[in-house]
Amino acid sequence: MTAQIIDGKALSRQLRAGFRERVGHLQAQGVQPGLAVILVGENPASQVYVGNKIKACEECGVRSLHVGLPADVSEAEVLATIERLNADEQVHGILVQLPLPPHIPVARVLEAIAVDKDVDGFHLYNVGALVTGHSIFPPCTPYGVQLLLDATGTDVAGQNVVVVGASNIVGKPMGLMLLQREATVTICHAKTRDLAQHTILADILIVAAGKPGLIVPQMVKRGAIVIDVGINRLPDGRIVGDVCFDEVKEKASWITPVPGGVGPMTVTMLIENTLRSAERSFPLARGDDRHGWDAPPAARA
Ligand code: GUN
Repeated sequence: MTAQIIDGKALSRQLRAGFRERVGHLQAQGVQPGLAVILVGENPASQVYVGNKIKACEECGVRSLHVGLPADVSEAEVLATIERLNADEQVHGILVQLPLPPHIPVARVLEAIAVDKDVDGFHLYNVGALVTGHSIFPPCTPYGVQLLLDATGTDVAGQNVVVVGASNIVGKPMGLMLLQREATVTICHAKTRDLAQHTILADILIVAAGKPGLIVPQMVKRGAIVIDVGINRLPDGRIVGDVCFDEVKEKASWITPVPGGVGPMTVTMLIENTLRSAERSFPLARGDDRHGWDAPPAARA
């Protein structure tokens, strides 16, 4: 069996075409959706990610505001910047690129962002809302993965999902979102003993460990869906995921490539959340009343 490729680039392109239409609706009502991105310091990877976010905004007609702060900025200055953006009616989404320099407490920064503008979904309120299945802004990477899974036509209810990696940004929210969709979820992490014993049982294997070559075919059930969230730069400059793609694709039914799988979807879902925020700020702009994450009704109770 050779797996079918889940093409995140193509799905992103399709979604972004729809976004331009939504931006048009908003503009017709006098609302120009806007996203503010705060980057502290000069981490090269973060600069690339922020650049991609700004580019996606331009592509979709979303106004972007790039706020660059020096690496030695004080916590008070970061909080004051967020306060100013919280009060700015032209800003519908605020994102603070992570990681932050060690002297800035991440939790205090994330909690300073207005819940209604928290398009990353990292504020404690939105994390709690995700636990109960009522999130407005699901975190972008797991949200993108969910749409990639939907694109395969798979109903995750009752399926064994194994998530490798328990980060606050990907692994934990991913597990919660799929639990909400009634999957049986296992979250593995760096201290998990005998990882293969878990992964081999996965109908859906989602890997977000940041370790190139971690997942070899012996760890994958035949016919599994494999989603690779890893983005790793090898010494020779190649970008690879956490999954041995060429070998695992001979065993899986569906697989995401790196690059071109999850990566573009993360940025696309950031724009989705920003538009949702703008639409929530002006309920008539979208023309319907769907302003929340599309959790299945049966699972909401
Ligand atoms: N750093 C790595 N991924 C992310 C993300 O999704 N959002 C933010 N703000 N920072 C990140």
